[in-house]
Amino acid sequence: MNDASVTQRITDLRRARGESLAILAHHYQRDAVVAHADILGDSLELSRKVAGLSARDIVFCGVFFMAETAAMLAGPGQRVHIPAPDAACVMSEMAPAALVERVLTRLAAAGRDVLPLTYVNSSAAVKAVVGARGGSVCTSANAGKMLEWALDQGRGVLFLPDKMLGQNTCNALGVPVEKRCILDVRGGGERLDLAAAASAEVLFWPGQCVIHARFKARDIAAVRAAHPGVKVVVHPECAPETVQAADAAGSTSFIIKYVAEAPAGAEIVIGTEINLVSRLARRYQGEKTIRPLCVSGCSNMAKGTEENLLALLETLDTAAPVTVPEDVRGPATAAVAKMLEVSAR
Ligand code: 13P
Ligand code: SF4
Repeated sequence: MNDASVTQRITDLRRARGESLAILAHHYQRDAVVAHADILGDSLELSRKVAGLSARDIVFCGVFFMAETAAMLAGPGQRVHIPAPDAACVMSEMAPAALVERVLTRLAAAGRDVLPLTYVNSSAAVKAVVGARGGSVCTSANAGKMLEWALDQGRGVLFLPDKMLGQNTCNALGVPVEKRCILDVRGGGERLDLAAAASAEVLFWPGQCVIHARFKARDIAAVRAAHPGVKVVVHPECAPETVQAADAAGSTSFIIKYVAEAPAGAEIVIGTEINLVSRLARRYQGEKTIRPLCVSGCSNMAKGTEENLLALLETLDTAAPVTVPEDVRGPATAAVAKMLEVSAR
């Protein structure tokens, strides 16, 4: 089948299913997939939307943790599917649930019973570990609000798995550097510096997004030297030095809004996944100049294609939906529900 007939077949199948089908897509999906989405958004927007959907089948074009979170938020009788189930967020895999549990247990045994706050880029099993300890979840769009909430609980916080988002959020909230500590979780948690952990207010898991780690402060300096007056906006998964060198930082939807609100003729350099940057460059062609800080693509987001979307839609009634084990679902959903409640305040 050629590209045009794949596109047409997806369009026909969507039409035939009507409102019983909802297709959600993250901003990092390729254009050909985004074109079929009923709802496009950042992680927070997509989580919020799932709770209000009435469709029986929800198809989530993104990486696995996103579909898994949607499966937790879906109502009785609703089924969540992902066209590329092997699309794993590499950063989410840097915090295996058993190791998170082990580290929290070791800290607690040493008298440091911290509240865990996990970035939504984590498995349902990690969200369950966090939820069972009274913790919650955040996205890049509400990390400041959620970290403030977590600090207010008065137990100190373990922020995981993204040490970059954690540090950027602490910088924005003014948490002193000497009150922070990046944990060494190697050796099954045996190498933890318990003395450093005891005196810190915010502990960071040592994970990061390799796609966003490529954006460097020196690239921003070079771009400013070559293009005086340029504006630079980056995602908060970038290193703190990169975020500090930029004009602004925020979630994928924040970046889209930043570009939309820039005046005609603006020159904007963006530090985030290339699919989104290229889409914005095309959308504003001739009106604003949009360039990537460097070309960095998420190979797992790229696993979502029109071909596997079509294959899923062709077999939707018999396809195995994304499921979350019962013992995980309760505490993990509680952690996500807490986020939705606090971030709506
Ligand atoms: P957003 O929540 O900003 O869309 O980010 C998700 C993500 O995975 C960024 O790498
Ligand atoms: Fe995960 Fe990074 Fe890909 Fe986002 S860009 S899905 S954080 S690996």
